[in-house]
Amino acid sequence: MVDYKYAIEIGGANTKIYIRDNGLALCEPTLVAAEPTPQGYKVIGLGQEAKKLMGKTNDSVEVFSPVINGVVKNYEYCIELLTYLFKKVEYRKKKDNVVVLVNCALSREEKQNYLSLFHDVGFREVTLVPTVVCTCLGAGKNISSTKVNMVVNIGGANTDIAVINMNSILKGGTLGIGGRAMDVAISHTIAYNHGIIIGLSSAETLKNEVGSLFVNDTLNMEVTGVDVETKIPKSYIITSSDILPVIEPFFEEIVKAVDVTITSLPPEISTDIINSGVIFAGGVSQIAGLDNFLKRKFRYPFTIADDAENISILGAGKLLEDPALLAKIVENF
Ligand SMILES: Nc1ncnc2c1ncn2[C@@H]1O[C@H](COP(=O)(O)OP(=O)(O)OP(=O)(O)O)[C@@H](O)[C@H]1O
Ligand SMILES: [Mg+2]
Repeated sequence: MVDYKYAIEIGGANTKIYIRDNGLALCEPTLVAAEPTPQGYKVIGLGQEAKKLMGKTNDSVEVFSPVINGVVKNYEYCIELLTYLFKKVEYRKKKDNVVVLVNCALSREEKQNYLSLFHDVGFREVTLVPTVVCTCLGAGKNISSTKVNMVVNIGGANTDIAVINMNSILKGGTLGIGGRAMDVAISHTIAYNHGIIIGLSSAETLKNEVGSLFVNDTLNMEVTGVDVETKIPKSYIITSSDILPVIEPFFEEIVKAVDVTITSLPPEISTDIINSGVIFAGGVSQIAGLDNFLKRKFRYPFTIADDAENISILGAGKLLEDPALLAKIVENF
């Protein structure tokens, strides 16, 4: 049996690496910063270093993710980013093996692309598993029985909705809603309502620190940007009630999509879900007041996972220690 030491999740926001017997070893933004030179684009920052450059350089520098919606869009930059990150966790080229968490809806060609990518990064054996199955495992669920579980993972780029049993996905789908879309909406609203242009990093900080789904929350934070017209620096105190109307429609849409998914399931399956409760996970499910919001707007029982941002990679960690279960999941994927 192949011995897998590493698991990796290349998320729309963050890339996470787990090392067997060690735990979660790395979490860095899935970002590459590159600048044009006469010889083509040159990488000037990767991961955390690339994120630090966002909005801090001249306009010619581009900071982007080489993986879009779970699909490898820029093979060469992916290799650079992954080699850089795996060197940090001291992988051994041509010796180590890796489990890669991927979107459950990948085509055969996209899967093949992932396999080639990790072989080119230097791994000997590469195996792909669906991220949502790992999310379910991370939440402590038994994924092998006939009993059905449902997970909703609200990440940086997307929201994955999946119904799982017998080591496989009964029904899965992806909504193009995640933390990034909320950050963009927050920055637009602040420009429109308060006349201040802020960067996406500041908008993300506002979402995470001040954003709340409690109706009368009083969290607040001063943000500094530039005046829309004069471009002179300008500060303003943003409160939870400024953020709520911007983010609430996203959560309403997610709830609607989950509801539609459950309604479309045969009764034996939806009954299991109603009995066990829908598991909400992903970084964005850490938003203040989600529990309260779901109690008001979602008609099914639910739980919000602990350590929601890391739950999928932690679930993959369990797989590194259980090769028999890993084999069953791979067989069904
Ligand atoms: N306290 C918080 N409140 C709201 N959002 C948060 C909070 N903490 C982190 N986030 C957001 O969670 C997102 C990252 O979550 P996660 O790591 O699950 O995404 P990902 O796996 O990289 O993306 P995807 O699942 O879409 O591929 C970011 O948008 C981040 O701003
Ligand atoms: Mg994710």
